[in-house]
Amino acid sequence: MRITVLGAGAGGGLPQWNCGCLQCAAARKGLIPAMTQSTLAVSLDGADWVLLNASPDLRHQLAANASLHPTSLRGSPVKAVVLTNGDVDHITGLLTLREKTALAVYATEATHRVLSENTVFGVLDPALVERKTIVLDQPFSPLPGLTITAYAVPGKIPLYLEGEAPDLEMMGEQTVGLRLQSSEHDVHYIPGCAVLHDWLVARLEPANVVLFDGTIWSDDEMPASGTGSKTGARMGHVAISGPEGSLERLSKLRGRRIYTHVNNTNPALMPESDARAAITAAGWEIAKDGMEIIL
Ligand code: MLT
Ligand code: MN
Ligand code: ZN
Repeated sequence: MRITVLGAGAGGGLPQWNCGCLQCAAARKGLIPAMTQSTLAVSLDGADWVLLNASPDLRHQLAANASLHPTSLRGSPVKAVVLTNGDVDHITGLLTLREKTALAVYATEATHRVLSENTVFGVLDPALVERKTIVLDQPFSPLPGLTITAYAVPGKIPLYLEGEAPDLEMMGEQTVGLRLQSSEHDVHYIPGCAVLHDWLVARLEPANVVLFDGTIWSDDEMPASGTGSKTGARMGHVAISGPEGSLERLSKLRGRRIYTHVNNTNPALMPESDARAAITAAGWEIAKDGMEIIL
């Protein structure tokens, strides 16, 4: 199995257009690598690929990765897209895929509803782009030999659908984790997760690779840095640090562990930070754009 991190950033990317935080400023100066927004590409044979999420940076991400370039006059190695939620950073790249090439879009019924209620996604020609419904906990196969199972993880509905008091740890179709299996490998991808319950920890422990929500280092990171008022809990993202944080809760993972969907406010993006040192000491990696995970 080959997994390419097309974009390791959370919504907004690094640098984010309106942000002057330490990390965004460092990225603008070229002191740390920039990050595009949250998308992975997965292949078993290196020829046909499935995208996990479709970020607003997808055009650039496809251009930057030679294995995703067309191999014919019109066509693409991208055969399918699988969505984990309806967030802007995960769905708007679908609009980049509108130029009359067949592909399948897999999403839960709830996420498909977001697409069908936003008529701009109608540019994906229904004669060519098949919308396939994911049923939670039921495996599907977007590429021969690759099985994916989506399961509910605690999360909230997309930002633009929030009412007065959204349920921040909702379990259902709005936020899913993906289990990717080939004959030999077992990989989990969870770019957004609000809380690490015991059942989820147990599920992740035996995996070969876990790509997990690395949005924020500490729950109060945005308020404390003056970049915004929302805590991680309010945004539906469990922090990396702290007693209930992912570093502590996932300390018994047996396989490779990688943080992705990293927000630009996360101090671990700075090479000399205490946050980076703690993450590295615990055996975790932090994803980068272009990172290849070859199993
Ligand atoms: C998130 O991961 O919390 C969302 O992508 C935020 C957003 O929609 O900007
Ligand atoms: Mn996001
Ligand atoms: Zn920033």
